[in-house]
Amino acid sequence: MNNFTFYSPTYFAFGKETENQAGQYVRQFGGSKVLLHYGGGSVIRSGLLDRVKKSLDNAQIPFVELGGVKPNPRSGLVYEGIDLCRKENVDFILAVGGGSTIDSAKAIAAGTVYDGDFWDFYSGKPIEKALPVGTILTIAAAGSEGSPDSVITKEEGMLKRGASGNAIRPKFSILNPELTQTLPAYQTAAGITDIMAHLYERYLTNTKEVEVTDRLIEALLLTMVHEGPRVIADPDNYEARANIMWAGMMAHNNSCGVGRSQDWNSHNIEHELSALYDCAHGAGLAITMPAVFSYVMDHDVMRFAKVAVRVWGCQMDFDHPEVTAKAGIEAFKTFLKAIGMPLTFAEIGAKEEDIPKLVDTLCNGNGGNGSISGFVTLNEDDCTKIYKMML
Ligand code: NZQ
Ligand code: ZN
Repeated sequence: MNNFTFYSPTYFAFGKETENQAGQYVRQFGGSKVLLHYGGGSVIRSGLLDRVKKSLDNAQIPFVELGGVKPNPRSGLVYEGIDLCRKENVDFILAVGGGSTIDSAKAIAAGTVYDGDFWDFYSGKPIEKALPVGTILTIAAAGSEGSPDSVITKEEGMLKRGASGNAIRPKFSILNPELTQTLPAYQTAAGITDIMAHLYERYLTNTKEVEVTDRLIEALLLTMVHEGPRVIADPDNYEARANIMWAGMMAHNNSCGVGRSQDWNSHNIEHELSALYDCAHGAGLAITMPAVFSYVMDHDVMRFAKVAVRVWGCQMDFDHPEVTAKAGIEAFKTFLKAIGMPLTFAEIGAKEEDIPKLVDTLCNGNGGNGSISGFVTLNEDDCTKIYKMML
């Protein structure tokens, strides 16, 4: 195991009706004027936004609003949010929605207290200072409710990039599984896929002897394999939703990733797809992961065989571990299809002729050096082959 530091100070309020305490938590964490940030309207239609406003009113906390965050959130609204926060002297940002809304809120939080262009943070500058952010989560997926990360797309060149820093870890996150019951099945499944991707990206490591985090990841993957089909069949199943929601947080606050190298090649390869085709991030991952895993499997075939046996229940073939490893990837594909995820380029409207552009932006965009690195280093030729495997 490698040396590590772990700092995860988010306060979580989990369970039914917890959103009604939003105002009280904002006050507890030092907010006196709030930017209420949300997406394209689901929180209005469900009545959640009204309940949150009532809670802020009850706590006598004034607020301004900025809705309209799109999935795969854009830089344009971030600039708007920064201007609004400065003009209105906002000192706390409350994100009500999914990963896109939370990430947009984090970007605004960092940009408001920074003299330069907030995009500097998405070009590699660590975030050291930000307004405090709180979240009320409506979809179990990105894990942004407990993570120090934010992913934003810059309209110019459709560059989708991440920024990081403990300063943008949410001060509090309210997780009420009931709020996820209004999700369309496709979004629920995309969220499940993203959660599993966050686990796989950590499982694919070059660090030896990391049994405790291996076992935690396997436990969370097994939970998703059990609860995923249950919630797709029965969207109002509170207990399944609750298990998925907490698994989504644990998958990405890095409690399963400390002390080990991690992959993230699948995420980087996927981000080009959701940037160009505006597909759901989880759907893009469903197409990407099996291709990446098959391509890099030989790098450590026993690791793929291990997850195949421990999570997918495959029989270990000691003479031919690659057979077991492949069986695990196939079982994952079967699972993804069963919960309604796409497995091919065409299903998200991606086109073969765009592959050179996808590869170029992936490997060379935003100061890239011709390759991406993780579990293995992949150059432009490797990435081209991987995208072709998704056809
Ligand atoms: O915009 P509204 O109307 O709210 O609709 C959203 C959106 O259309 C809808 N939705 C959310 N909760 C709902 C609901 N509809 C009905 N009922 C509800 N309860 O679902 C759609 C997707 O929402 P979005 O916020 O985009 O989903 P998600 O949480 O999957 O976030 C995806 C974004 O997070 C980034 C992704 O790249 C993508 O941009 N990621 C962020 C990470 C992080 N910050 O740590 C890590 C992840 O790997 C990921 O890259
Ligand atoms: Zn993700």
